[in-house]
Amino acid sequence: MAVNLKGRSFLKLLDFTPREIRYLLDLSRDLKRAKYAGVEQKTMEGKNVVLLFQKDSTRTRCAFEVGALDQGAHVTYLGPSGSQFGKKESVEDSAKVLGRMYDAIQFRGYKQSDVEALAKYSGVPVYNGLTDEFHPTQILADFLTVEEHLGYLKGRKLVFAGDARNNMGNSLMVGAAKMGMHFVAAAPKDLWPDVALVNQCKEIAKETGAKIEMCDDMLKACKDADVIYTDVWVSMGEPEEVWASRIKDLKPFQVNMAAIKVAKSEVIFMHCLPAFHDLNTEVAQDVHKKFGLTEMEVTNEVFNSKHSVVFEEAENRLHTIKAVMVATIGK
Ligand code: CP
Ligand code: NVA
Repeated sequence: MAVNLKGRSFLKLLDFTPREIRYLLDLSRDLKRAKYAGVEQKTMEGKNVVLLFQKDSTRTRCAFEVGALDQGAHVTYLGPSGSQFGKKESVEDSAKVLGRMYDAIQFRGYKQSDVEALAKYSGVPVYNGLTDEFHPTQILADFLTVEEHLGYLKGRKLVFAGDARNNMGNSLMVGAAKMGMHFVAAAPKDLWPDVALVNQCKEIAKETGAKIEMCDDMLKACKDADVIYTDVWVSMGEPEEVWASRIKDLKPFQVNMAAIKVAKSEVIFMHCLPAFHDLNTEVAQDVHKKFGLTEMEVTNEVFNSKHSVVFEEAENRLHTIKAVMVATIGK
């Protein structure tokens, strides 16, 4: 049977079959080529999409806005302040209101249960633009980028170094399990993904040929890697106080040239961004004053090396997010 995602929400990759993920990646590639060639067809004319953000964003917001506009749809942005959501109005009531005005809802927030509730009560497709637990649209962009650089996903060794029990570690592990990749979480034991999710991914892996591993030795984890991926050590919504312990725990898992050297010679470096690779941000300055670090999860050398594909990865947020909207609400 043909893949048909019309009317579906995109809340987490666990809800999608490998074939459906394959379909979204192929559609992303087609939409990217059409845009480059200047022959993109608009499939979302007359549609309205609301973008509801409880946390800040550059890439995700811009990808949804440009993607929707490229396809002829209109967008409304509701930021972390300025709407009634969650403060004076419950998730359920907000969902019922927005579902009567919009064809789809993008949500970025804290709880996965909130994005799931929006989908339950709004009656329209809901897209997860990041929760504490998952960041599924990011994984589509990441996998499109891996395919563009390395040709295929199956069997590729992807190492995620850092806070592996957060949204990026969880989502990459699920995505890798679905697509038959070799996933390694490189982190201290306390920051490994939740055991229940690891076991769920290992079950999926039995079907897809994926391999799921945890490793608390950075160089051992990175040996012969095709992809080395990292993320910020402290995520949005976490308290300031965690910086000290996180730096202590994750410093040995910094992506530096030593890690790149033990990987395959054509290894690519990836990061969802934003990244702390220099002192050119307020947060990096603050951390520098308190802890003396000049770079954090990735060295400036690796970030700017020939291995780094981070800005292509960022561009691919647009093509993949557009694919999710076209597949679910396009004509
Ligand atoms: N990678 C990502 O989601 O970036 P933003 O926080 O800028 O949206
Ligand atoms: N783990 C990060 C991802 C940002 C895209 C965060 O949640 O802040």
